[in-house]
Amino acid sequence: MTPIQETIINNKTTNTPIWLMRQAGRYLPEFREIRKLNPNFINLCLNEDLSSKITLQPLRRFELDAAIIFSDILMLPYGLNQKVEFKKNLGPELGSLNLDEISKVDEIDFIQKLYPIYKSIKKVSESNIIKNKNLIGFIGAPWTLLVYMINKRSPKNKLIKDFFKDEFLINKVLMILEKFLKLHIDHQIKNGATIIQIFDSWAGLLEEKDLPNYIYIPTLNLVNYVKTLNVPVICFPRGIKNYKNYCDIIKPNAVNIDYDVDPISIQKEIDIPIQGGLDPKVLLTDTDNIKKQTLKYLDIFKDHPYIFNLGHGVLPESNPDMVDYLVKMVKDY
Ligand code: CP3
Repeated sequence: MTPIQETIINNKTTNTPIWLMRQAGRYLPEFREIRKLNPNFINLCLNEDLSSKITLQPLRRFELDAAIIFSDILMLPYGLNQKVEFKKNLGPELGSLNLDEISKVDEIDFIQKLYPIYKSIKKVSESNIIKNKNLIGFIGAPWTLLVYMINKRSPKNKLIKDFFKDEFLINKVLMILEKFLKLHIDHQIKNGATIIQIFDSWAGLLEEKDLPNYIYIPTLNLVNYVKTLNVPVICFPRGIKNYKNYCDIIKPNAVNIDYDVDPISIQKEIDIPIQGGLDPKVLLTDTDNIKKQTLKYLDIFKDHPYIFNLGHGVLPESNPDMVDYLVKMVKDY
């Protein structure tokens, strides 16, 4: 078993494993070098030689226990023929959402369009570096993808007025998403992904009363689907007010917490393995502070199955030496 499987499946609490969200990305000069020559982000994700290489870049530098495939949650709307573009410093921009258009996409078109992602996963899974480590495949949760598909860009801190106006459209999109997300999960696993993480980055935008319809039911369907494929599933409902309710209902194999969560109370409330929590901004400070904050999480979770990670992705301004320091601290604990 890999160190992460020992934690998730056997509830082991020693030798805390570590990986980091956005561990491959702009804070690494070797990524920026490739990125400079590849201004189209979608095309870069669809270049299996480069995306597999980028996926492994952080593992060549740091003693990480998992690779996460270099791709994006928005490859799904792209696969459904909604236009997706990444503009420099502006984040993602999607084209208009046409229900007739996305309803026409069949499974073969979709798989063909995303095929390079699966080939990249296969390539990474065959690499020696991944031996006794996990390769994490991922999806965006239906709710977060719906937000991007309707809002067409990252929401600021709230949904646009009239977001829920067209209930027919929303329900139809959620059904389409469920079907294609299952297909996407299935192909990632068939090609070598050994864990699936579900990112629900905009879970925090919903009121309590809307959680069943938009988060609990759609996510539970997917979590149960991953479980039938005998692969562990980690959920990250960023900003959700009640992580305990979420875990009780969804029952993922592990849950990633964000940096606003109080680690002491969550440790007491939640029985399942926990991942993450450390504020990525800590990596912008100095080694003394990194040490202090990292020890805080390691101490709180020392008797709880825990995978070290952050409370959101590594920031582009991070210094790779500080990431190195963090990984070594966790390994030496
Ligand atoms: O974690 C990893 O290293 C794996 C690859 C990965 C990316 N995006 C690559 C990426 C993963 C798992 C994602 C998930 C993702 N994408 C999420 C969920 C996690 C989260 O951040 O909340 C979301 C919401 C997206 C959508 C998205 N993609 C946004 C909002 C942006 C722009 C923000 C930014 O950091 O620029 C992206 C672009 C993106 N996805 C980059 C990377 C490395 C930066 C692209 C670049 O190089 O310019």
